[in-house]
Amino acid sequence: MSSKKCREFEKIVQDILEKKEFQALDYELHHGISRYKHSLRVAKSAYKISKRLHWNYTDITRAALLHDFFLDKQLKKYNTATTFYKHPEIALENAKKYFSVNIIQENAILSHMFPSSKVFPKYKESWLVTFVDKFVSIYEMYRFKASLVLGIWTIFFFNVITLQK
Ligand SMILES: [Fe+2]
Ligand SMILES: [Fe+2]
Repeated sequence: MSSKKCREFEKIVQDILEKKEFQALDYELHHGISRYKHSLRVAKSAYKISKRLHWNYTDITRAALLHDFFLDKQLKKYNTATTFYKHPEIALENAKKYFSVNIIQENAILSHMFPSSKVFPKYKESWLVTFVDKFVSIYEMYRFKASLVLGIWTIFFFNVITLQK
């Protein structure tokens, strides 16, 4: 990202990134990294794409950053299947508690798990957030699994080599 775009991105999300309640996501595991890093990656990717498309990049970037704004403890009482459609509702609740969220951002957060969500993406901004989240999630999960497999094989070969007489 160019330094001009970097500055613009930071200006759009600065208040969110500075909030200690949002920084708590850095201690939550998500796709092998922290939920903070996942959210930031989704937000940066969504910002770049929406800038290129000349879409409403402010709403898209903020919604993308806030789409998974929840803590695991807030989902403890739900089973895994329920968390699929429940966590966007909690993310929206948290987002509204600390920031102003407009109707486009609200729909983008609530529908980001589409088609597993209860809410349909009503705006092109919502469609972009859900697509970017899916691509980023697939990338992160494969990278995590690949590094796990690579780590296991590295240990295996290290043991084979070092245990040889
Ligand atoms: Fe999510
Ligand atoms: Fe996500």
